[in-house]
Amino acid sequence: MTSALDIVILAAGKGTRMRSDLPKVLHPLAGRPLVSHVIRAAREIEASRICVVYGFGGDAVPGALADDKLTFVLQAEQLGTGHAVQQALPHLHKSGVTLVLFGDVPLIRPDTLKPLVAAAQAGKLGLLTVVLQDATGYGRIVREHGKVVKIVEHKDATEAEREIREVNTGVLAVPTAKLAAWLGRLGNHNAQGEYYLTDIVAMAVADGVEVLASHPGDAWEVLGVNSKAQLAELERIHQRNIARELLDGGVTLIDPARIDVRGELNCGRDVSIDVGCVFEGSVALGDKVTIGPHCVLKDVRVAAGTRIEAFSHLAGADIGEDARIGPFSRLRPGAVLAREVHVGNFVEVKNSVVKAGAKMNHLAYIGDAEVGAKSNIGAGTITCNYDGANKHKTVIGDNAFIGSNAALVAPVSIGDNATIGAGSVIVKDAPAGELSLSRAKQLTVPGWQRPTKK
Ligand code: UD1
Ligand code: CA
Repeated sequence: MTSALDIVILAAGKGTRMRSDLPKVLHPLAGRPLVSHVIRAAREIEASRICVVYGFGGDAVPGALADDKLTFVLQAEQLGTGHAVQQALPHLHKSGVTLVLFGDVPLIRPDTLKPLVAAAQAGKLGLLTVVLQDATGYGRIVREHGKVVKIVEHKDATEAEREIREVNTGVLAVPTAKLAAWLGRLGNHNAQGEYYLTDIVAMAVADGVEVLASHPGDAWEVLGVNSKAQLAELERIHQRNIARELLDGGVTLIDPARIDVRGELNCGRDVSIDVGCVFEGSVALGDKVTIGPHCVLKDVRVAAGTRIEAFSHLAGADIGEDARIGPFSRLRPGAVLAREVHVGNFVEVKNSVVKAGAKMNHLAYIGDAEVGAKSNIGAGTITCNYDGANKHKTVIGDNAFIGSNAALVAPVSIGDNATIGAGSVIVKDAPAGELSLSRAKQLTVPGWQRPTKK
């Protein structure tokens, strides 16, 4: 029988070297706070409780994570990692095991955590260590006859100990009752005057508890963020990993180093993505979708066979099959486009349903509207949806033809097969099948002379 697993995520530190007012663990990696990545990994190993220890920045951390399944524990003063875990103790199951994670080590994978939890379940102390070329700053793993006997922090280490390249990642798992006893005995007589969590390793050894060191599959999993440079480095590693997964799934990436996924990107077969694209939130691309260079897609669904051309910005839109969007198109939330719709350059569509085969190829604003199937929206057409106080709807029927530069003043409707003359300001409903226009009559002034320079 396995005992209850609780996870404690340490996230109280200020992160001085970030040089920012935002608590370190809230800085975004791939569009989400650092600590959210750690929480996601924690969730995948089914803990009975996940405690987040916060401190610097006050309620900013709980506020940003707002989640009733997390237990937030305040560490009012940051007196060290051991002190931080101690704050969480009252919330932990006494007969269970505890896994400690760092909120600023975002790329940790659940599979790496499992052996540690298993060690703790077996009554041992599971410790995640890694061998680094440059171990500067890290706690060093001191071994005797091959067995881990203690951890010394860099600042407390002797010259000889500083030669050790096996370092503490900060991640460990241990039976909670033992953890509680050891934490109660921690002192702060060290170079930093802090209560070090790492001191429990020597206590475990003294108590005859075996320390089992395991290692991450990849060293990048345990890299921490202490500065903007490290944050940028981890972002690149994370994006490289995502690009690799997309390639493995059969997606064509013109350059895997030039894609950014800040959320979930799901792709069908034979999807191709050109350089410089950013995907945010939840994006789904159907079979044979192609995305041109430098597009931004946020919370968008694109159905099979559709082409998104260069420099398009799409957010909260739903695009049907075999549509053609861009270059330079903007789709805003509530834009629902049916199959074979064409939206061209400098066209903005917001909160509108556009039916199959409708075209709006140049310079238009379609907002709070319905556009019927196969209708043609001329260049410069504007749905005047806003009267300064309220929004109103424009309804355009099927197979309508809206001449260039028409202003459709909502609420207004244009019937099926209606034609609107270019340059018209339409304030009354235009009947089906007829030509409607409102425009000053053209006149010619005979003999008129252009002024000349005096
Ligand atoms: C810690 C480890 C070190 C390890 C390194 C790995 C200790 C004493 N040292 O050192 O062995 O090699 O991580 O990156 O544990 N935190 C709190 N409250 C505090 C202090 C820290 O919540 O009072 C949090 C921080 O927000 C951070 C984590 O604990 O998420 C680690 O703290 P940090 O000060 O970065 O520890 P290091 O000196 O890097
Ligand atoms: Ca650190």
